[in-house]
Amino acid sequence: MSSFLRPLAYRYRWIYDTVTAVSSLSVGGVERLRGLGVDALRSRLQPSAAVLDLCCGSGEAAAPWLDAGFQVTGLDVSPLALELAEKRHPGMQRVEGLAEDPPLENGSFDAIQLSVALHEFPRRERELVLRQCLRLLRPGGWLVLVDLHPAGPWLRIPQQLFCALFETNTALAMLEDNLPAQLQELGFCSVEQELLAGEALQRITASRPTASVTA
Ligand SMILES: C[S@@+](CC[C@H](N)C(=O)[O-])C[C@H]1O[C@@H](n2cnc3c(N)ncnc32)[C@H](O)[C@@H]1O
Repeated sequence: MSSFLRPLAYRYRWIYDTVTAVSSLSVGGVERLRGLGVDALRSRLQPSAAVLDLCCGSGEAAAPWLDAGFQVTGLDVSPLALELAEKRHPGMQRVEGLAEDPPLENGSFDAIQLSVALHEFPRRERELVLRQCLRLLRPGGWLVLVDLHPAGPWLRIPQQLFCALFETNTALAMLEDNLPAQLQELGFCSVEQELLAGEALQRITASRPTASVTA
């Protein structure tokens, strides 16, 4: 369930961009939101590391990785989003596909970013996506995940309003779950969670263990 505004936001880019701009104020603006992934991992990666932006949309959160010199591949299910990504960020390689079953080789990435996308998946599919991240990362590679977290008292009502207008039940389900614990259960190690924007946002980094793990 979601309101009539959600399909409109995906259809009319200016609505999507405006909603992103307003909701990112709590974290310091759109630039800061888009840079959360690369800021967390930059120092742990080689300068030309291979990075996958899973559910990349039009590539806005891939842009800071490209600017920093990483080799970025963006995967998304939406051909329209990928078309826009091609225009806005021509340096990004694009792959059309499902995050639950990406057409990509095992261990082919040094890092994977999931930027405000995991909440789009029902619980079972969310687990599949995270298992695929383990499969696609090289041993010792890093996942960075930026997504919703239950807000503290100041932002609780704005977050509830935002979710009611623009999100589906999958986002509400994710807010009930403990993502760091889930990542650990799936076999990730070095899991670290940081709460941002009045706790309304979480940034999690986690690594694929160097000993082999099955997907
Ligand atoms: C909220 S947008 C986030 C886009 C981008 N990561 C960002 O930070 O701006 C979620 C994206 O997930 C994509 N998506 C949803 N379900 C997907 C799936 N099953 N496989 C791949 N991409 C999917 C949508 O097409 C959309 O571009």
